[in-house]
Amino acid sequence: MSEKLHIIPHSHEISVSDRRRQKGHSSLVIWFVGLSGSGKSTLASRLEQKLFERGMSTYILDGDNIRAGLNKDLDFSDAARKENIRRIGEVAKLLVDAGVITLTAFITPFEEERNQLKKLLGADQYFEVYVDCPIEECEKRDVKGLYAKARAGEISNFTGISSPFEEPTNPDIRIKTAELSVEEGVEQIIKAIDLKIKTNN
Ligand code: ADX
Repeated sequence: MSEKLHIIPHSHEISVSDRRRQKGHSSLVIWFVGLSGSGKSTLASRLEQKLFERGMSTYILDGDNIRAGLNKDLDFSDAARKENIRRIGEVAKLLVDAGVITLTAFITPFEEERNQLKKLLGADQYFEVYVDCPIEECEKRDVKGLYAKARAGEISNFTGISSPFEEPTNPDIRIKTAELSVEEGVEQIIKAIDLKIKTNN
């Protein structure tokens, strides 16, 4: 018999609605998808700052910090990327349950995993931002110098070069970072999520 059959979740006294009422706002995940260097972390950071200044409970889960800790056992194979996203989805779900507006910045290259996230969190609690930036522009920016290394063959399985990136087909919003300023991008996201944050108790 599977040991899993003996896991019986405890039902606690304080519900997610209680937590949301206490904080005065709803909770959801704002999931940023896009190529390395597309501007996910920059947008997430600025958006978090704006929400935080409005007194909201926020937290950012970011590719490089999660991969240095919780997911340091994972590489960049397709299977490991899927596991990376699966675990982060579960962590994000806990944070949303705790009443926190959670922002995530991960490439999230596969449509199947994005669909899984939406299923796991529910459409009400999952807001997908496609940080849309042509790879030529990301490569030109090359903030971390990784595109140059990938082109030189020093990094294998690099997204957009030697590993696939499936464009999101149905994001909640698309932000074209090569055409907009950070402030403009953040304003567009705030407009789109404002109602959700206020009314989604
Ligand atoms: S994901 O594909 O599993 O969603 P994740 O967002 O966690 O990727 O990590 C991407 C970050 O790891 C990049 O922004 C970059 O800094 C770094 N990185 C290191 N190696 C690679 C690689 N082979 N492909 C993509 N990003 C890489």
